[in-house]
Parts: sequence; C-alpha cells; structure tokens
Amino acid sequence: MLAWTALVALVPYVLAAPASSDCTGTISSLDDVADAVQCTTVNINSFTVPAGETFSLSLLQGTTVNMQGNVAFGNETWSGPLFEVTGDDITFNGNDYIFDGGGPFYWDGLGTNGGVTKPHPMMKVEISGTMTDVHVVNSPAQCFSVSNPAALTMSGTIVDNSQGNLPNSKSNGTAAGHNTDGFDVSANDLTITNSTVINQDDCLAINRGTNLVFSNNYCATGHGISIGSITSNVIVSGVVISGNTCYNTQQGFRIKTDAAATNSTVSNVTYSNNKATGVYDYGVLMTQSYPASFGTPGNGVNITDISFTGGATTIETNSSATMVAVDCGEGSCDGTWDWSGLTVSGGKTGAIDNCTVITGFTQ
Ligand SMILES: *[C@@H]1O[C@H](CO)[C@@H](O)[C@H](O)[C@H]1NC(C)=O
Ligand SMILES: *[C@@H]1O[C@H](CO)[C@@H](O)[C@H](O)[C@H]1NC(C)=O
Ligand SMILES: *[C@@H]1O[C@H](CO)[C@@H](O)[C@H](O)[C@H]1NC(C)=O
Ligand SMILES: *[C@@H]1O[C@H](CO)[C@@H](O)[C@H](O)[C@H]1NC(C)=O
Ligand SMILES: *[C@@H]1O[C@H](CO)[C@@H](O)[C@H](O)[C@H]1NC(C)=O
Ligand SMILES: *[C@@H]1O[C@H](CO)[C@@H](O)[C@H](O)[C@H]1NC(C)=O
Ligand SMILES: *[C@@H]1O[C@H](CO)[C@@H](O)[C@H](O)[C@H]1NC(C)=O
Ligand SMILES: *[C@@H]1O[C@H](CO)[C@@H](O)[C@H](O)[C@H]1NC(C)=O
Repeated sequence: MLAWTALVALVPYVLAAPASSDCTGTISSLDDVADAVQCTTVNINSFTVPAGETFSLSLLQGTTVNMQGNVAFGNETWSGPLFEVTGDDITFNGNDYIFDGGGPFYWDGLGTNGGVTKPHPMMKVEISGTMTDVHVVNSPAQCFSVSNPAALTMSGTIVDNSQGNLPNSKSNGTAAGHNTDGFDVSANDLTITNSTVINQDDCLAINRGTNLVFSNNYCATGHGISIGSITSNVIVSGVVISGNTCYNTQQGFRIKTDAAATNSTVSNVTYSNNKATGVYDYGVLMTQSYPASFGTPGNGVNITDISFTGGATTIETNSSATMVAVDCGEGSCDGTWDWSGLTVSGGKTGAIDNCTVITGFTQ
C-alpha cells in the first residue's frame, strides 16, 4: 500500500502528462469519432452514416473542423437528429461539402404533421464560433436547429430542398417536402449571413433569443422570414433582419404568436434593406392568432418596437395576396412601430386590427 505522501508526490506527474489534444483526428466512419474528437483539428472525409444513428461531434474547446468530403445518411424512419455538433469557440469549415438528408425517401407531403416519422431536426448546432460554407440537400423535415452557447456566426450555409417542391407518388399532387424549415433558432448572439434556403416552410423561424442578426440571405419558395411561432414564457428581443431577398415565398416577413400564449414578449425588431418578390399570401403579416393567419387574436404576448427603417424594404406580392395585415390582441401591440421604410405593392389591402401605433406607412 502506498503512503499518503507518495500519492501526493505522484499527482503533479499525472497532471503534467495529459494526452495532447494538439493533433489531427480524421473521421471516415462513425467508428473514428470518439478518437478524433480528442484532437483540436478534426477532418471529415466522405462517408455514409449508418441508418438510425446520429453523427454526433462533441468537440474540445477551440477545435477546427474541416469537411473534406460529402456526408450521406442511411435511410430509416426514425426521429433523428442526423447530425449534431457541440463545443465552444469552434471553427467549422464546411468547404462547400454536402450533408445529404435523403429527403425523397421520407417525403410524403405531410412533414412532421403526419405520415412516416422523419428525422428532425436534421442538423442540430450547439457551438459557438463560426460555421462556414456548410451545404445541406434534401432534409427530411426541419433542417437546422440552432441553440449556440455563446456568439456564433453561420455564413455561406446552403439548404437546398428544391427537389421537395415537386409532388411525389405519396403527396397527392402537393409539394413532397413539408415543414422543411431552414433555420429554427432558440439562441442569443447569433448571426446568420450570406446563406441560401430553398424549401417548403419558414426560411428562418426565431422561437426565442436576444441579439440576433439575419442578413444578406436568400430565401426561396418557402414561407419567408419569421419570428415565431411564439409560445408562452419566452422573450425575443434585439433582432436585425437586413439585406435579405425572398423570392416566390408565402410571406415576406412575419411575426406569429400563438393565440393561447401568455407571458411572452417580442421587442426591438428592425427590418432594413430587404426585398421580396412573388409573395403569394401576405407581404407582411403580424398575427397574434397563430396557428390562424388572421383570426381571433390572443393578447398574452406583447409585441413592441417593430420597425422598417434604415433602408427601404420593398415587397411585391401576387395580385391575389394581401400586402400587409396586422392582427393584434387588444393592447398587446405597443411601443414604436416606425414603418417609414416599408414599400409594398401588387396585392390587396389588408386589415390592421388592434394596432394604432404604426407610423410612416399607409397602404
Ligand atoms: C436515401 O434515399 C434517397 C431517396 O431515395 C436517396 O436519394 C439517397 O441516396 C438515399 N441515401 C442513401 C444513403 O442510400
Ligand atoms: C394523400 O392521400 C392519402 C389517402 O387519402 C392521405 O392519407 C394522405 O394524408 C394524403 N397526403 C397529403 C399530403 O395530402
Ligand atoms: C458575406 O458576404 C460579403 C460580400 O461577399 C462579405 O463581404 C462578408 O465578409 C461575408 N460575411 C461573412 C461572415 O462571411
Ligand atoms: C414569464 O416568463 C419568464 C421568461 O421570459 C419566466 O422567467 C417567468 O417565470 C414567467 N412567469 C410566469 C409566471 O410563468
Ligand atoms: C435593439 O436591438 C439592437 C440590435 O440588437 C441593439 O443594438 C439595441 O441596443 C437594442 N435597443 C434596445 C433599446 O434594447
Ligand atoms: C403567385 O406566386 C406563386 C409563387 O411564386 C406563383 O406560383 C403563382 O403563379 C403566382 N400567382 C399569380 C396569380 O401571380
Ligand atoms: C405586457 O404589457 C402589459 C401592459 O403594458 C403588462 O402589464 C404586462 O406585464 C406585459 N407582459 C410581459 C410579459 O411583459
Ligand atoms: C382585438 O383583440 C381582442 C383580444 O384581445 C379580440 O377579441 C378582438 O377580436 C380584436 N379586435 C379585432 C378587430 O381583431
């Protein structure tokens, strides 16, 4: 038996000789992951993740990830996620390589509202740092779920679910892809920029968080740029939506709060320099009747300080679309709503209910 003093004497040597993380780990199959994440450089080669398993990276602080090939996922009806990454101060270089979710295998026009179980979210991102040039094709349903632990910038992301716009044998003539949200955000200090989403649901959906920037992105064929839907007991505050383009989307810009939600706030949202064309439902929709677009609003969520300023936001809608509609609960849309930077044309004039604070805009 070792004397206590001998044990104490050993401690410094044990602490002084940790396995070095200053190494490069290479992943060519899931079997390589456990060793690779002991290193602060992780290279990902092209491989197929076995069906029913998550490609999960739990990274050391300061790790750089380099994709060096495309990643595919075996097809199986299960709940996912297909890929998840966690870690602080991460540099994730997608290098324009592709994560292929195998969407056509799952798509039945019903998304996560019915039909077969679809892995979702496809990509669960819980890192701080940067994530650059990651491409995703054919997410089974919702694509990115982002809840970063500290500041994160995602740029050059592509979500291409354009194939889901076509019907297939199971979708009865409707788009086969459904609920394929681009980015679902519950996070603080997040910037999403220079990215592209072609899909069948929200390009961006902010569920909660503060200090969020969505800039210079391109959104096509989905439901446009959204805050919400907002449930009970959440705060969304300090959102900048600027320089984005929506093309052939259901909405341009929307805030949707659940009719039944209580004790939540959405505040300090600024839209500037955005453009939307081919919008076919609502150019701008602020509704507290969700899931109805325009119905019986609740007033348990306060929406304050919503502005279109700092550079024109220009929206052209279809002739059958409503240009602007505001459906607030009594007393729950308040503060400064300076809409002097908003120009909308092409569609029908909508109602503005329970919201008398809009200035600088008449339709
Ligand atoms: C999964 O199915 C889709 C659709 O049939 C296909 O495009 C994809 O290549 C399949 N994935 C794999 C890994 O076989
Ligand atoms: C297609 O039709 C089938 C059979 O009626 C139904 O179960 C399914 O929900 C429909 N799917 C869509 C997307 O409407
Ligand atoms: C986004 O694109 C612009 C124009 O190409 C570029 O100046 C900027 O650095 C990019 N931002 C990021 C975070 O990559
Ligand atoms: C109201 O929401 C906040 C979070 O925004 C939460 O901390 C608080 O507990 C909620 N209040 C009630 C009564 O649930
Ligand atoms: C509103 O949000 C912007 C952007 O996040 C922030 O700079 C500003 O301080 C916020 N204003 C208030 C009054 O909180
Ligand atoms: C409305 O927009 C949709 C989507 O862009 C388009 O397919 C449709 O043809 C347009 N309809 C009209 C009446 O302009
Ligand atoms: C919403 O505003 C009302 C009226 O100003 C206030 O009484 C209530 O506390 C606010 N709710 C939240 C969650 O801030
Ligand atoms: C105003 O809000 C209340 C709920 O707070 C709702 O019952 C009413 O229908 C709203 N008014 C209009 C014109 O929508």
